[in-house]
Amino acid sequence: MGLSNNGALFLLLVCAAARAGAAAAFRDGPLLNGNFEQPPHRSQMNGSRVLGAHAIPYWTVTGFVEHIRSGAKEGDMVLAVPDGTHALRLGTGSTIQQQLSVTRGKHYSVTFSASRTCAQYEKLSVSVVPGDPPGELPIQTVYTSSGWDSYSWAFKATRGVVSFVVHHGDDDQLDDPACGPIVDNMAIRTLNVDPPHVGATTQHGNLLRNGDFEEGPYIAKGGSPWGVLVPPMNEDRVSPLPGWMVMASSKVVKYIDAEHFRVPHGSRAVELVAGLEVALVQEVATVPGSSCRLEFSVGDAADRCTAAPMSVQVATAGGSKTVAYNSAGTGGFARDALDFTAQHDRTRVVFYSTGYHTTSDSTGTLCGPVVDHVSLVCS
Ligand SMILES: *[C@@H]1O[C@H](CO)[C@@H](O)[C@H](O)[C@H]1NC(C)=O
Repeated sequence: MGLSNNGALFLLLVCAAARAGAAAAFRDGPLLNGNFEQPPHRSQMNGSRVLGAHAIPYWTVTGFVEHIRSGAKEGDMVLAVPDGTHALRLGTGSTIQQQLSVTRGKHYSVTFSASRTCAQYEKLSVSVVPGDPPGELPIQTVYTSSGWDSYSWAFKATRGVVSFVVHHGDDDQLDDPACGPIVDNMAIRTLNVDPPHVGATTQHGNLLRNGDFEEGPYIAKGGSPWGVLVPPMNEDRVSPLPGWMVMASSKVVKYIDAEHFRVPHGSRAVELVAGLEVALVQEVATVPGSSCRLEFSVGDAADRCTAAPMSVQVATAGGSKTVAYNSAGTGGFARDALDFTAQHDRTRVVFYSTGYHTTSDSTGTLCGPVVDHVSLVCS
């Protein structure tokens, strides 16, 4: 769906939809050989190309997959890897997979780094088998100056053992089968998912789930200074940000942590890096006619995103407002609130940035306002 039109976006998003609502050994962190530092045996390689399906420890590969070393040259291009000295390059039509021991019924988020190499538009499809159809991650816009971005994707485990699969599709219409994104730093995290709150019976509680964004995809300690991108998902998909949906055609929001950025509250927040083309949405049960107050913080991530002002549009069916925040790009936030009357038995809370911003360091890195510490109280 095209979300470039402001009015259409508003209507689309605030209209409440009538919808119903490793085992013991599992640990959050990198997947086994998730950074591909354990190389294939030389006998299983031809140059950088991986020949055997089981050549890379803990992984199964099919198609044209290369195990690349940082600094390797390819034509005029020097390949870089984000972590350690090795990574995988997924050629057209290739697949990599790893078996995961998980707990049936739990939600998990997978994070990995990816970088485009040849095509302007590359996409990876990510899935677990058995599970829902693959989710598509557009490796399209470069959000960071390094050219590396971390992406997240989430799933609900329907079995105790699932295969995590990353596939590089063959619809790029390229002649060179080697062309494809480089991937690295595969990690997983169990998501703690609260059941939805029952709006009608709470008096003073926050109706929103995960309003502080403390629950979300894995962010590597130390490494991964870029934040983690949360791609768009439809409403039926498991979100890496429990409670929240990212609505867009292809753009993302950036999940940031206090270790690498400034966040207004707690240790995590969301940076709206893609202007009008993406909205952060949560739908909650409300009593029609009740008086509601939505409180939230708008700030900047101290990532040199300078703009006076940056603006966040906050919208519900009962009212909306634009919140301006003057960002020096050095961290800070303002608290604001929207009072409205609930119109329906479900209310959608929508946040989006009304502008496009890049960092002032001339790298062209996309950035934007940070949203955090959101609460919705109705009485
Ligand atoms: C290795 O790659 C070269 C060049 O593409 C090819 O000529 C050769 O046959 C390959 N060797 C094996 C064992 O696949």
